[in-house]
Amino acid sequence: MSAIENLEIIEKKTLDAISKKATLEELDQLRITVVGKKGSLTQILRSMGTLSAEERPLVGKRANEVREKIEAALLTKKEELAAKELSERIEASALDISLPGRSRPQGHAHVISQIVKEVEEIFIGLGYTVEDGPYVETEYYNFTSLNAPKDHPSRSPRDTFYVVDPTVAHPKEEIDTRKNIISDVLLRTQTSPVQMRTMEKQCPPIYMISPGLVFRPDTPDANHLPQFTQIEGLVIDKGITFGDLRGTLDHMTRALFGNDRRTRYRPHFFPFTEPSCEIDVSCGVCGGKGCRFCNHAGWLEILGAGLVDPNVLQNAGIDPNVYSGFAFGMGAERIAALRYNLPDLRLLTTGDMRFLEQF
Ligand code: DAH
Repeated sequence: MSAIENLEIIEKKTLDAISKKATLEELDQLRITVVGKKGSLTQILRSMGTLSAEERPLVGKRANEVREKIEAALLTKKEELAAKELSERIEASALDISLPGRSRPQGHAHVISQIVKEVEEIFIGLGYTVEDGPYVETEYYNFTSLNAPKDHPSRSPRDTFYVVDPTVAHPKEEIDTRKNIISDVLLRTQTSPVQMRTMEKQCPPIYMISPGLVFRPDTPDANHLPQFTQIEGLVIDKGITFGDLRGTLDHMTRALFGNDRRTRYRPHFFPFTEPSCEIDVSCGVCGGKGCRFCNHAGWLEILGAGLVDPNVLQNAGIDPNVYSGFAFGMGAERIAALRYNLPDLRLLTTGDMRFLEQF
């Protein structure tokens, strides 16, 4: 049989066989026997060297035509069988596995909620309870019971949102200057009133923290928000000293900012504690050397604290000769800013997902 005749037979038989194949696997077997390494057509192409000089171009041309035809037929059949097998699989199950899944965006807690939860967990680990208090407070709980003198500047309507009785008419000048519009109901300016509410409800020993919103008539800027989150802490027990305050708050600071951050206790004044202090943590950006972020101080203020003033204990009906305690208060937004080196607190109140998704 001549090479050309042989090619004709291979072409006819193979095309016929391709049209009859029912599975991708069978089709692939056929492909191997014809155009695979040892396939019948491959062998003809390989043996071209044994042909005479006149025969070679004719056989070569025909062999290439046959190979192209067979390869095209194999491809068409492969696509047809693949589509058929897919639709069979789809029909066999109720699930359409060919559809790409619909991914749902997954949300997570806001960075401030994460920090509140983290602080709660640190203190729950030390045996503290988590207390709650009202946002709308009375002047007594927010100021008076906490030893704030009548003329303390924070009582001014410029520093506190008073809830004014709408049935009382105020002259226009009073409204303009916000003078005299002081009622005994206000939006709490701090979480400290929860100290008093807890001491009234529970007998010592008291180990509690209380996170929640507070409100101040401040114009929002990089360091101020008119509404923010504070976390209050209060311990009342026998024999509590400044050493307990320091050990507890150092533990908290390391848990929040890492073991390499140092703390510094600076004397300060708060009406409800005596002595009082402010606590700074070494700057995380420069490590305490001084940089733009810490205003070249090397330190960043994180909270206020002190030993509970005996007057406050007395106001709560607790004998200051038997019990002593410490208290502290800090801003969750500030902790977030210090931990993540945020340049502007207002970022935290936007709903900008590009910002929020980072935490
Ligand atoms: N209430 C204070 C403030 O808003 C923070 C604070 C300071 C709370 C000292 C305390 C404390 O309990 O002991 O600035």
